[in-house]
Amino acid sequence: MFEEFSCQETGSTAFVIFGATGDLTRRKLMPAIYELAATNRLPDQFQVVGFARRDWTNEVLIQNLTEGINQFAREKPVDAKFVNRILANAVYISSDFNRSDGYEELARLIRERQICNVMYYLATPPDEYEVIIDQIGRSSLMEMKKGWVRIVIEKPYGRDLESAERLDEAVHRVFQENQVFRIDHYLGKETVQNILVFRFANGIFEPLWNNHYVDHVQITVAEKNGVGTRTGYYESAGVIRDIFQNHLLQLLSLTAMEAPVAFNDKSVRDEKVKILRSLRPMKDADVLSNTYRAQYASGLIDGQRVPGYKDESGVSSGSTTETYLAARLYVDNWRWAGVPFYVRSGKRLPSFLTEIAIQFKQVPLPLFNWQNMAGDAPNVLVLNLQPDEGITLTFGAKLPGPVNQIAPARMEFNYRKAFGGNPPEAYVRLLQDSLAGDATLFTRSDEVTAAWMFTSSILKGWKNNPVKNLPVYEAGTWGPPGADEFIHTNGRRWREPEVAA
Ligand code: BG6
Repeated sequence: MFEEFSCQETGSTAFVIFGATGDLTRRKLMPAIYELAATNRLPDQFQVVGFARRDWTNEVLIQNLTEGINQFAREKPVDAKFVNRILANAVYISSDFNRSDGYEELARLIRERQICNVMYYLATPPDEYEVIIDQIGRSSLMEMKKGWVRIVIEKPYGRDLESAERLDEAVHRVFQENQVFRIDHYLGKETVQNILVFRFANGIFEPLWNNHYVDHVQITVAEKNGVGTRTGYYESAGVIRDIFQNHLLQLLSLTAMEAPVAFNDKSVRDEKVKILRSLRPMKDADVLSNTYRAQYASGLIDGQRVPGYKDESGVSSGSTTETYLAARLYVDNWRWAGVPFYVRSGKRLPSFLTEIAIQFKQVPLPLFNWQNMAGDAPNVLVLNLQPDEGITLTFGAKLPGPVNQIAPARMEFNYRKAFGGNPPEAYVRLLQDSLAGDATLFTRSDEVTAAWMFTSSILKGWKNNPVKNLPVYEAGTWGPPGADEFIHTNGRRWREPEVAA
């Protein structure tokens, strides 16, 4: 029944958003689609279809999404011509996600509008994913064989290894892996992609990028924000599920991976998954000595008093959900044997900052018996991912003058200064790639499984050794003293990030 039109003539694409009434659609998806339209990067004949439970009409959908674009688009003023291009034909289907008639209505619409390509986007709460995928599979939607069909799935992709595997099975009952685009928005960030360019388009750093020269690596994802209105989700997630299992492990695998055979989705992801599989698994006792958790208490952020985690509405007074996590990880392969990767992430820290710091080893024999203000860590290469994208290299230099002193100096590259402008929003790049069928910046099934396999070993260790309370840190500080001691035990220390904003 889908054979009566030619895709060469219509070429139309439907972007079907499950959860079209939600925040993600308004804040991220529609502004990104608008930017693609405004820069001529959307396929011709692009149509938005909203699917959600609320009792909206087409007009209410269009009005709501237009407001979202006007409010959240990066480039202002918003050009109504492009908004109209995206939304003039938008349709809303009001249905429970588990009711087959909603999906049949969608199939009818796709047929009537002679749609060739369909992108499903799951922007609902995660507990709806399996139901929606299952319903798509049962409906006549799957008979559509004209153009391509893809699905984009937001995080969280499962909450442990078992649930992620179960979700993956549900996905694979309906879709082939090459139709599936699992989002980790960190991979859409320009500077995250630049880790690969920096490493593999330059000859000078890669020879040093191994256990012969690197003492350790520090990866920091720090946020000033608290949990806000998301306590319901956060209480059962914590940093480990919210940031560690996905964003942090992605940053680590990009930092540690071998050069891919080619720059394409298969080769890049083949190398990333090898790193995730090389992470040294933690047994119970290792989990306690190689991780450190804490929770924020009330404190000052930008001079304003903010509530502690346990005072946020929806958090139980006995909560042991971590809002700060530090971990010592080892990548057990030839390149990285013996090099610790210290990762940390927290909410209500003093800065909004994401960086990867490669700390190089000391010289083999100290030669200068001088005062050394560069300290015992003179050579650090820092990839600043946000907020101020750039790369810095620090080294010791002789302080000018008669006194023999070594001072720290830095070479600095700043994206904005060098190239101007602001880096594009992650969702713009990710939507563009998914519409083009390029999955390089999306997480593959085996990657998710490997990341969960490792993360689950930590969760298991915590579960087997329950705590009554976590150490607390005042909001606006870099964690409790224990966080510093955690890394000191190896004679190392956390970097003091230079970005204070
Ligand atoms: C999300 C987490 O995945 O990433 C949030 O759920 C977190 O808790 C956010 O705030 C951080 O993203 P970004 O792009 O602001 O660093």
